[in-house]
Amino acid sequence: MAVSRHVVCRVDALPEGKGESFLVAGWRLALFNVGGEFYAIEDRCSHANVPMADGYVHADELCVACPWHGAEFDLRTGKALSLPACEDIEAFPTSVEGDQVMVELPGG
Ligand code: FES
Repeated sequence: MAVSRHVVCRVDALPEGKGESFLVAGWRLALFNVGGEFYAIEDRCSHANVPMADGYVHADELCVACPWHGAEFDLRTGKALSLPACEDIEAFPTSVEGDQVMVELPGG
């Protein structure tokens, strides 16, 4: 599948331990800074479509808990780790180039 790379934000725009929602190339992303590493997942809980950017990050497990009912998703893969979410969500590769956070998204 073709992918395209996009700038999400400046590195210093997202403090450690925080998440924020971004609209990039038509995708609503939840970007998280965990210990200086950036993770991007769909900004949509698969249980009831709640934004995930306001979720609770568990740095040790590299997962985020939905702010509504607590379903957890792996920040690296988007895998649903606990109920009530049963479906995985998308996760997207990120990188840092200079002072910018980049993300790879499906499509050219
Ligand atoms: S909306 Fe996310 S667990 Fe229910």
